[in-house]
Amino acid sequence: MVYNKKMKVLAFETSCDETSCAIVQDGKVLANVTTTHILHRDYGGVIPEIASRAHTALILPSLKTAIEISKINVEDVDLISATQGPGLIGALLVGFTFAKSLAYFYKKPFVGVDHLEAHLYSIFLDFPDLKPPILFLLASGGHTEFFLMEENEEIKYIGGTLDDAAGEAFDKGAKILGFPYPGGSKLAEEGSKGDPFRFNFPRAKTPPFTFSFSGLKTSLLYFVKKRPKKFINENLPDICASYQEAIVDMLLEKTVEAASILKIKRIAVVGGVSANERLREKFKEKFDEVYFPSKIYTTDNACMVALRAISLFKRGITTSLYSSCYTVYPLKGEFENEKT
Ligand code: KG4
Ligand code: ZN
Repeated sequence: MVYNKKMKVLAFETSCDETSCAIVQDGKVLANVTTTHILHRDYGGVIPEIASRAHTALILPSLKTAIEISKINVEDVDLISATQGPGLIGALLVGFTFAKSLAYFYKKPFVGVDHLEAHLYSIFLDFPDLKPPILFLLASGGHTEFFLMEENEEIKYIGGTLDDAAGEAFDKGAKILGFPYPGGSKLAEEGSKGDPFRFNFPRAKTPPFTFSFSGLKTSLLYFVKKRPKKFINENLPDICASYQEAIVDMLLEKTVEAASILKIKRIAVVGGVSANERLREKFKEKFDEVYFPSKIYTTDNACMVALRAISLFKRGITTSLYSSCYTVYPLKGEFENEKT
């Protein structure tokens, strides 16, 4: 068992454009109140100030709703946690400071959680008995990284993208093709109707444990520039399918290589891009043992924060209420974890 199932945890996630509050008990999600800020759509990307304001408006109602749904009050929880970083600093501060204030007022232990490590723990929401060692591919809008979770639950950073993240490649490709923000999932949906082998987009060759997606994005840009708009519109499903195929192939090929070098058979793919159907299909074909979170847990949510908080707490790790947020990963020595 990789986390103590007996605890009630209240968790918050506010690192980017989702405000999320969750109450998790005995490893089960009792409440998951997650709101995506669609306000950013008009600007074509996340605006940090708008995100901070949205979190400020949503954090208390989210907690109230989580209490109503779970019928568990803050007095009754064993642990309070929040995402500490990386992320947008103003956005992080809202959830982190709110959670610390609750912990102070209700005299509860507090654990600050790394956002990327929380994504890894999303897999245990659906597969609580999954045993490490596990090779994780975390593919989201901001990150495309490999992590190895060892038998003792230690998490090791293995490597990652040299430029853009896979989700960024989806989103930027979608923007080039004229989909409204956030376009990654819309590009994937359009691609599901097309032929993935019609057009040949480049697959970057990079050293083991690394990725590169910026060349692919540029090649799509030139592909679109060189052709009349009519052609693009008439062939949109095939273009999306072929572009998506290149991203998925690179993710798959590098994961096969990483798993073989590290001699790890159990694979988990987490983060926003792990919702992609074509990715799921191709990974399942290739690996005997590959796991994906439920779609609701692929994007940012506080349930995964709660599970990571329990795993730290059971090892005696809590976070001082004097700690602040951090925004850069990997982080060493920028915040203090106390042994209780
Ligand atoms: O994990 P996440 O919610 O936020 C970050 O921490 O970045 O991931 C969001 C990313 C976006 O880039 C979005 O386009 C991508 O996940 N995404 C998808 C799909 N659904 C979301 N990419 C490909 N196919 C999808 N179905
Ligand atoms: Zn995330």
